[in-house]
Amino acid sequence: MKIAVLPGDGIGTEIVAEAVKVLNALDLTFEMESALVGGAAYEAHGHPLPESTLNLAKAADAVLFGAVGDWKYDKLDRPLRPEQAILGLRKNLGLFANFRPAICYEQLVGASSLKPELIAGLDILIIRELTGDIYFGQPRGRRVATDGHFPGAEEAFDTMRYSKPEIERIAHVAFQAARKRNKKVTSVDKANVLETFQFWKDVVTEVHAQYPDVELQHMYVDNAAMQLVKAPKAFDVVVTGNMFGDILSDEASMLTGSIGMLPSASLNSKNQGLYEPSHGSAPDIAGKGVANPLATILSAAMMLRFSLNQEAAAQRIEAAVQKVLAQGLRTPDIWSEGTTQVGTAQMGDAVVKALG
Ligand code: NAD
Ligand code: IPM
Ligand code: MN
Repeated sequence: MKIAVLPGDGIGTEIVAEAVKVLNALDLTFEMESALVGGAAYEAHGHPLPESTLNLAKAADAVLFGAVGDWKYDKLDRPLRPEQAILGLRKNLGLFANFRPAICYEQLVGASSLKPELIAGLDILIIRELTGDIYFGQPRGRRVATDGHFPGAEEAFDTMRYSKPEIERIAHVAFQAARKRNKKVTSVDKANVLETFQFWKDVVTEVHAQYPDVELQHMYVDNAAMQLVKAPKAFDVVVTGNMFGDILSDEASMLTGSIGMLPSASLNSKNQGLYEPSHGSAPDIAGKGVANPLATILSAAMMLRFSLNQEAAAQRIEAAVQKVLAQGLRTPDIWSEGTTQVGTAQMGDAVVKALG
């Protein structure tokens, strides 16, 4: 089991260290190799995704990723910015299916900003298409406008696009995932305005014909954003495009108590995967030893389940996380009156201990 370990920037290094600690405490043998990525790789090699890092990721069975980015790189040319590393990994490895499960653990019902009764027992799965949409569509750039409201003015543009096979394959992923859960898929679009998302809706509807046992509901993204905080438990599987999925998954993270609790798996058609928390490098708390490592530790559990065929070990980690929460240990982002505040490393140590 070959794992490429890419901690990245900011809290990335702190949280990945804890996930590695947990993996090493299992009675399994991994071949782990680390490499620089993001701003750290730019500093050392002049590029956020050096060839050597990409090759390491390609050769691995799975990639464990922290986070990339820092405000200080915001002025770099776009191809050199840290965020290009994660986008490049997704594109080069063909990681089109992103699973972001928003589960509210019983012990954290009070940590969410929502009323307990709205989120108690919450278990929804956001499936975000990850290699298409306005993120990768060409052309993009800056130019002088020749039409529009201000001809002759400087303007910028991006291209939103999806091909039929791209929509079909993510729709299959969503329907198949729903079959193993509560058999309900909500496809989120903006078909009332955007051609790309009318097409999305049409293709998802077409694929649905092969899954008569699964209920399909269509919802506009603005309404979905509202429904997610109004009645989140009404959702089961949510499938959507790259950009809407990015936004809705950050929103959904607060239903679980904190963005520090939301893991993710990004898979290609060979079940090779990249596993990372849904959050970023959190420059505002980096270096302080206070970041919540649980999203990354839970991502490692997803890695064991999806890419390494180690379901029992995945469940062991998930049970250990619940045990630690039941013990009342909390990083500051999920802390509430009556619980014990701990730092990043203490949280990782506690999970290791709870593995039994
Ligand atoms: P962010 O997710 O890094 O942080 C948003 C807020 O959540 C911050 O207040 C942060 O302190 C908090 N937070 C995030 N993770 C936490 C954790 N584990 N524990 C406790 N608190 C946590 O988003 P941002 O501030 O908008 O972006 C910061 C940088 O990260 C940017 O450069 C952005 O491009 C990058 N980013 C990278 C990824 C990735 O690598 N996949 C994802 C998102 C953002
Ligand atoms: C995420 C991040 C990335 C995205 C950025 C850093 C490119 O926000 O993984 O959610 O937008 O996909
Ligand atoms: Mn995001």
